[in-house]
Amino acid sequence: MELFDSLKFKIIRRNIKVAFPEATDARILGAASRLKAEELLEPVLIGNLAEIEKAAVARGIALENFTIIDPDHYDRWDEMVEAFVERRKGKVSKEDAEKMLKDENYFGTMLTYMGVTEGMVSGAIHSTGDTVRPALQIIKTKPGVSRTSGAFLMVRGRDQEKYLFSDCAINVNPSAQELAEIAVESAKTAELFDIEPKVAMMSFSTKGSAKAPEVEKVAEATKIAQELAPDYLIDGELQFDAAYIPGVAQLKAPDSKVAGQATVFVFPELQSGNIGYKIAQRFGGFEAIGPILQGLNKPISDLSRGSNEEDVYKLSIITAAQALMN
Ligand SMILES: CC(C)(COP(=O)(O)OP(=O)(O)OC[C@H]1O[C@@H](n2cnc3c(N)ncnc32)[C@H](O)[C@@H]1OP(=O)(O)O)[C@@H](O)C(=O)NCCC(=O)NCCS
Repeated sequence: MELFDSLKFKIIRRNIKVAFPEATDARILGAASRLKAEELLEPVLIGNLAEIEKAAVARGIALENFTIIDPDHYDRWDEMVEAFVERRKGKVSKEDAEKMLKDENYFGTMLTYMGVTEGMVSGAIHSTGDTVRPALQIIKTKPGVSRTSGAFLMVRGRDQEKYLFSDCAINVNPSAQELAEIAVESAKTAELFDIEPKVAMMSFSTKGSAKAPEVEKVAEATKIAQELAPDYLIDGELQFDAAYIPGVAQLKAPDSKVAGQATVFVFPELQSGNIGYKIAQRFGGFEAIGPILQGLNKPISDLSRGSNEEDVYKLSIITAAQALMN
């Protein structure tokens, strides 16, 4: 089954509610109306009713039966303010909360925290920081996960060759412990896409072939990850060719159960991760889907500002599927 057919099969008619804080954007409205018409999820549009209606008319979309929540007229506003102050214990006053919750990303994140929606998709007009920060502060990471991270699903060709790359979006220079947690979360994310996780911890060294603190960090992270999740196949440190090419794996890491057949590639820090996925995308002809934020208690997804309607549609499907994992 094609990747998105399988995800759609998982979420269809489950009535999964997803908040869209950028509901006056034509790409968001277009994707939301398709998702609703196909019964893949129940969009909850956030914003001023008149402005959303005007944008919908301009986009040629009829909004009847859509749930629209206007932060200026929300019947659970006081409860939301109180819950936010409680969640941010000591860091935000009631007055601050009243102001911050007028920001649609904070509002949408709180709707998700309160369980009104099961996830949120934003970022088509907001920066990564503005989209993700409320989630880090309110939704927070799952027990045992100290950092959220951003994975990219890399898909190529008609036979749907699939890999997962991470972290390509969030943590500039993770510690060995953080890198280990990223590896374990990435293995779980891979399973969501029916990828059998074989996790390669990437480096410029294979099994001690080079010596440097950067290499030691990856070797240490490998050890921690193996201890954290003994049931997953996780190995390192591996160079990309040793991880990917069976012939090179035979020479450089003959005893590894991951080398030569890796499906999940964990990069040692953000520069290599971000550069790496873009090289695969531009040179290798892979479609890069993401970033898919992993490790949060509930799924919050950050669109690129360059996204088109199809990107919004796809990331929303992934977000709804992640909600089912929780
Ligand atoms: C994600 C990012 C925006 C966080 O923003 P930030 O506002 O600088 O974060 P702060 O350090 O002020 O922390 C805000 C809160 O989030 C938490 N936090 C920050 N990064 C986190 C992470 N990766 N995982 C979990 N929590 C995190 C902090 O602990 C803090 O929580 P607290 O307020 O309850 O104490 C920042 O890490 C970033 O800009 N990363 C690079 C993103 C980027 O440019 N990517 C490019 C490719 S897309």
